[in-house]
Amino acid sequence: MQRKRSLTGLIGTSSLAGTLRRVSDSRFRLTAEDAYALSTEFGTPLYVIDEGGLCERIRRYRGALAALWPRYEVSFASKANSTVAALKVAHDAGATIDVASRGELEAALRAGVPASHCHLHGNNKSLDELRFALEQGVSHVMIDHLGEIDMIATLPQCATKFVLRVAPGVDPKTHAKISTGQADTKFGFNLANGAAEEALLHARKREIEIVGIHCHVGSQLMDGEAQENAAELLGIWLAEMSTKHGVSFDYLNVGGGLGVKYLDSDEPESIEDYVYRIMSRVRPVLEEAGMEPLIGMEPGRSLIAECGVTLYRVGVVKPVGEKTYVAVDGGLADNPRPVMYGAQYQVELLRDSKWEYQTDGPGAMSFTREVGEGAIVTVAGRHCETDTLFPDVELSRIPEPGELLQILTTGAYNSSMASNYNRYQRPATVLRRSNGEFALIQRPETYDEMFAREIIPEGL
Ligand SMILES: Cc1ncc(COP(=O)(O)O)c(C=O)c1O
Repeated sequence: MQRKRSLTGLIGTSSLAGTLRRVSDSRFRLTAEDAYALSTEFGTPLYVIDEGGLCERIRRYRGALAALWPRYEVSFASKANSTVAALKVAHDAGATIDVASRGELEAALRAGVPASHCHLHGNNKSLDELRFALEQGVSHVMIDHLGEIDMIATLPQCATKFVLRVAPGVDPKTHAKISTGQADTKFGFNLANGAAEEALLHARKREIEIVGIHCHVGSQLMDGEAQENAAELLGIWLAEMSTKHGVSFDYLNVGGGLGVKYLDSDEPESIEDYVYRIMSRVRPVLEEAGMEPLIGMEPGRSLIAECGVTLYRVGVVKPVGEKTYVAVDGGLADNPRPVMYGAQYQVELLRDSKWEYQTDGPGAMSFTREVGEGAIVTVAGRHCETDTLFPDVELSRIPEPGELLQILTTGAYNSSMASNYNRYQRPATVLRRSNGEFALIQRPETYDEMFAREIIPEGL
């Protein structure tokens, strides 16, 4: 018997609740020895990312999808980290690249990724941006508003396919600044109030074929329930629209969002559980409708965040009342997340020789903490703001000037969000290759680069 599905009454159901396995700690860490050697060679702050860990996570997403659906695509959301070499690693490991601007597309092209392996997002794309993407031949453009359909209609026919970005109206239960799938979001067409259907018909009028649908409900999701609800809603909508308007859809993308382990106490779902819970909701809907679209996922954070660390050197150590401020040689400009939305990180004090490390497999390392009395400190940045990086972190002892702090889980939304605030140069990035060697993939910015755009008009 066919089950009747509708867009209402689904929110809050979870077919897998209570059966999820939790993952162990596979965050990348540097040994103290490597950290001190790298900091001497490349300076601090220093971003380090782990090639093996990134490839492994892409393989896990692909493997989990392959087990459940014949046609799938894992795209790396390049906003998480658009260092050109990282995009090459991701693409070589089997990911296509999700770009959200011309700049991110340029980064992918410079990594040697064919445009046909990239798709373009953006809630306010310019006509020039669209023209460039279409000329290059990106695989898909995710359309965000009706005006974009009209803009695309003015551009020459091309091989690019068009997808509607929709807001499925689910609550992702994450920080407001990274919530994007709720009904009143600025992104996409509302699914429930008919805006998405209107866009489908508008595109038809403008002779633009819509091949599928896309949503991204939010980021750092520690509970994938919103994501699985959204996936099912997307499947239902495709089935309904296909019957109602005779459209044959070929694409369904559920975006990114899976959370990662920032603090020791964080327990994100495993990639396999996450993919399974989404597919277990959308697959029956598609099977029932006799549809077999390509299923896309575009994770960013869960591919690269845990594969990255940042090294800072301790400068001033200042007791102020009950507090001890530990000022480091970075801050707001190289990691704006703590100031933007109170993001928290695991901080480790590194000292040569007092740490014992053991490699546990790709990218994973267990370690023995230095034995000391323990100290609670506030790690502050060097910027002219109260740019507290990491409040009330527990270290083995109060650090001394010149020692290194290693911050875990900084592979995503750190270097890609870096700025020159206070005219600090943006840091270098080093890649730990799969063979264990370290390679510089982005050198520190020079002052000449920083000032290359400045113009003093004649007569000023
Ligand atoms: C459209 C879209 N796709 C994918 C992502 C990646 O999300 P995450 O890094 O949480 O996996 C984002 C993040 O903002 C996004 O907006």
